[in-house]
Amino acid sequence: MLQKTFSDLKQDLKKQYYCKVPFAMSHEQIQGAVEAFMEFLKQPDDIKHHIHYKISDIHRRGDVGFIHRDPEDDIYNDSKDYFHYHDSIREQYADFLRAHPGVNNFIEKASPIWKAAQETAQNILKPFDADSPGLYERIFGAKLPHVILRFICYNWESAQKRLAKAHYDAGSFTLALAESERGLRIGLDEDSLTLVEHHPNEALFFLSKNFSKLINSTDYKPAWHDVIQLNDQIIGKPYARWSVVCFLDANDIEAESRESTHTCAAAG
Ligand SMILES: [Fe+2]
Repeated sequence: MLQKTFSDLKQDLKKQYYCKVPFAMSHEQIQGAVEAFMEFLKQPDDIKHHIHYKISDIHRRGDVGFIHRDPEDDIYNDSKDYFHYHDSIREQYADFLRAHPGVNNFIEKASPIWKAAQETAQNILKPFDADSPGLYERIFGAKLPHVILRFICYNWESAQKRLAKAHYDAGSFTLALAESERGLRIGLDEDSLTLVEHHPNEALFFLSKNFSKLINSTDYKPAWHDVIQLNDQIIGKPYARWSVVCFLDANDIEAESRESTHTCAAAG
């Protein structure tokens, strides 16, 4: 894919609420990390939950480590297992990783994806800095920049037509890196949700709920999005769908409530 100009990128964001950018990792490399994540999921609970710390206390997504979400626990929850990866895990948990190769294998495969995602996001966001001074430094200048990779497996037992309810992401920016199959829909609101074709070696960049706290412009809107199940042949598979997504934010921005990110501001 050809390198996009900044003006193309801005046009795409205004027109369709996301843009496609080149991504250095192949689908196979990402799939390899996801397979290592699935092996990680077979570890005992205490091992799976051992890695846990926060990038920022004011972020819902500042939590690093394994999380299981159950719809019974919260009306906004979808049924899924996910892991929030930050590259600082490798240093902070070096002893633990040496002693647990099943965990280390996943972490080592996630690391190059995290680095490539951060570099891709830096290339996208640097030009925005001219109109919104400080944006770049507020994100990437932090000691532990809020660059979180989320590995998600949606459970097939409870998979419904809509795998993820429509919402805005809670951070400022999102890069969707890869998914097992189609299903992500993006729009301004419920009526404009449109299925996105996501090809190998490209990432989808879109704006999340907090973006206006970093970008000084009223030209843009955050991406309202959901995930639908298009493949009925999921019974017997260990998961309905996987995806790898990168969330970015500035550490000094407070996360919006879940009610706010699950309510479409463009509706009505
Ligand atoms: Fe999302």
